[in-house]
Amino acid sequence: RGDKPLAGRTIVVTAGGTREPLDPVRYLGNRSSGKQGSAVARALVDAGARVRFVAAHLSQPAPEGVELTEASTAVELQAAVREAARGADGLVMAAAVADFRPAAYNGSKIKKTDDGGAPAIELVRNPDILADLVAERRDRADLPGLIVGFAAETGDETSSVEEYGRAKLARKGCEVLVVNEVGEDKGFGRDENAATLLFRDDAPGGPREPEHVAGSKDDVARKIADVMAGAL
Ligand code: PMT
Repeated sequence: RGDKPLAGRTIVVTAGGTREPLDPVRYLGNRSSGKQGSAVARALVDAGARVRFVAAHLSQPAPEGVELTEASTAVELQAAVREAARGADGLVMAAAVADFRPAAYNGSKIKKTDDGGAPAIELVRNPDILADLVAERRDRADLPGLIVGFAAETGDETSSVEEYGRAKLARKGCEVLVVNEVGEDKGFGRDENAATLLFRDDAPGGPREPEHVAGSKDDVARKIADVMAGAL
């Protein structure tokens, strides 16, 4: 298949960050710009894939050549991914999905009170889109056999970013996990990224050493596209 190693393949890519509304003017969000997910979509289109792109609040226009669906909240993103994943060969979950949402939506703007107090906001869990899909595909042949998750991690004194990534790979059950370190000055919103690709030990072909890639988000994306082309 020459320079189009993913010709004939359909891949779903998510990008951006979900927003969970609290009232008509406020939401809980995160700092994802959608640049990394957009770069992955571009690299896959360049490699010949048909890309179904599910985007949440991108800071720039979606890449050319993708089939675009927009979603705002985690619940909407899940519905869009479920629909797009049917019959697809691969899925890349680069979106930053809120783990929690406000338990209740206030139909009018929450007002300050005269007593100087502040409201307590109750949160409930959002669905884990990736883990749910991995679980569902056990009984379904029409869901992607190759699922690439992302992990935004910050290391601390007890464990490194890679150790947290390993634990997450095991928990989520996807084939590949792209672990990027995030913080005030790295990851979100920037044009550069540094990532480690971790592979599931029981993946076809046996255990595989992690691969490190640092450079532009396009460099990280091309590495992901290469790995997917090798696996599909
Ligand atoms: O968009 P940019 O500004 O370019 O920044 C890129 C990025 C840092 C957002 C991106 O590279 C990245 O790391 N995305 C995933 C961020 C994230 O949400 O990580 P997580 O550790 O919370 O989630 C792990 C995986 O589970 C991710 O694939 C995520 O899409 C998925 N997930 C998470 C929560 C949830 N409720 N459902 C999910 O499917």
